[in-house]
Amino acid sequence: MSSKDKNNTVKAVRQPPKMPGALPFVGHMIAFAKNPYTYMMELRARFGEIGEFRMFHQEMVLMTGPEANEVFFRAPDEQLDQNEAYKVMTPIFGKGVVFDAPLHIKNQQLKMLMPVLRDKPMRGYSQIIVNEVEDLIKDWGDSGEIDLLEFMKQLTIYTSSHCLLGTEFRYELNEEFAKIYHDLENGMHPIAFVFPNFPLPVLRRRDRARVRIEELVTEIIAKRASKKEKSEDAFQMLIDATYADGSKLSAHEITGLLVGTIFAGHHTTAGSAAWVLIELARRPEILQSVLQELDQIFGVDGEVTFQKLREIPMLERVIKEVLRLHPPLIFLIRKVNRDLHFKDYTIKAGKFVCASPRVSHRIPEIFPDPEKFDPDRYMEGRNEDKVPFSWIAFGGGRHKCSGNAFAMLQLKSIFSILLRRYEFDLVDDPETYQDDFEQMVVQPKEPCRIRYRRRKITLDKTGEAEARNVVGGSTGKVAETEQCPFFQVTVDFDLCQGHATCMTEAPEIFHVNDAGELEVLQENPPKKLLDKAKLAEKYCPTKAIKITSH
Ligand code: F3S
Repeated sequence: MSSKDKNNTVKAVRQPPKMPGALPFVGHMIAFAKNPYTYMMELRARFGEIGEFRMFHQEMVLMTGPEANEVFFRAPDEQLDQNEAYKVMTPIFGKGVVFDAPLHIKNQQLKMLMPVLRDKPMRGYSQIIVNEVEDLIKDWGDSGEIDLLEFMKQLTIYTSSHCLLGTEFRYELNEEFAKIYHDLENGMHPIAFVFPNFPLPVLRRRDRARVRIEELVTEIIAKRASKKEKSEDAFQMLIDATYADGSKLSAHEITGLLVGTIFAGHHTTAGSAAWVLIELARRPEILQSVLQELDQIFGVDGEVTFQKLREIPMLERVIKEVLRLHPPLIFLIRKVNRDLHFKDYTIKAGKFVCASPRVSHRIPEIFPDPEKFDPDRYMEGRNEDKVPFSWIAFGGGRHKCSGNAFAMLQLKSIFSILLRRYEFDLVDDPETYQDDFEQMVVQPKEPCRIRYRRRKITLDKTGEAEARNVVGGSTGKVAETEQCPFFQVTVDFDLCQGHATCMTEAPEIFHVNDAGELEVLQENPPKKLLDKAKLAEKYCPTKAIKITSH
């Protein structure tokens, strides 16, 4: 087969190679479901960047590696459609919400959630998270044993419900919310992917839970309307939000968006937090470096503040390496609405296409010795993630997870407290701690036991002074050069999601309006603003800003 490209050159058009061994009716479903990760690794080993398999009647194309990822993440929504792939979420989020809404409505709904993740509210969340961690470990005593994953699930449901749903759900409705959430979660049953309304008891409980949570949300909206003082949480932001035509969100839509936000961040963060502690407990020398860094930054008993949490380089590299080896979402799916081209291949409309963070993160040409846990691979000089779209734990391009900064804030807050208070040991053989691929969001297999012992502090009190040196030493201070009195600010608007951290760091250069639209006030600002601009570049959660100075 052949086709002409935009230069009218005749190009070969190839279909992705197909995995052999498809069974009648089910296709490769059984082999894939047994262990999706090993199945996808096998497909890559056999075919490289692109290969096809079949789930029942549905043709699925797996694309891996940075170039394939870029095509996947940069394709417009009209061409690669998320909605079709995530129909299982409709009974949970609700009809007409996010994946069940037409594209122009979905985009507006997602935009309404953005203020929740902007710089200003994020500063308030750090204190809430720190308090929740302190509260949950206050009765731990000197030593004990916990199921790590259960602990992290409980902690992150408290932190995310407190930050996002507000105090009513966290304190007044805590127990009922836990039950509702549990029933909604169980609604992501494998059978619901194919038959979302199959008459199973677990799916009926899911539907009852969805009705009940909407009732609770409706009651809180009414209560809040009668109060003089306004809350400042995500819930309130959604109550106040409007569509482009001026209409407000219904209680049904607010419920769906709140549930969706909690779903997006809860399990993913809980699993990642558990893996951070497991990987550190397996490697005392790395744990020691992280501890030294934390003691320097926070001091013996120093306060954990948003400002200090922003830069913890060693811990950040550990988290990044955990997310490379154990990304909670091991594959992402889109439906092809318009033929998609990749190199010589054409993926026909009607097929599904998948990207896999887990497989892409194990390509030895990009991440040498890929199975090795090595946080130093992100250090200056090595920068193994420098190839665009090679490290994709949070997705990429305009579809990069908008909650990535919130997730990092949570993880850094949790470990800034836990590691300075307690020492941890794995209860079982370190090699028995493995990922559980039977879950949609991959987490460590249960049981996931860990022992803790109160940490003996032998530090002197010089930590905070040294910490200032550590943090200040790498805030992006740049020696000014004589040649040019100005520097260049470039923004990739395709990546910008309106987080507004740039405006906090350099208000002379960046302005974000209430609709989340960024305006660059000066593209060639004077050098006296360079330090501020570098901070904006550094802390932009989507890495949309580039600063160039001569
Ligand atoms: Fe956009 Fe990053 Fe600023 S997402 S608004 S450029 S902080």
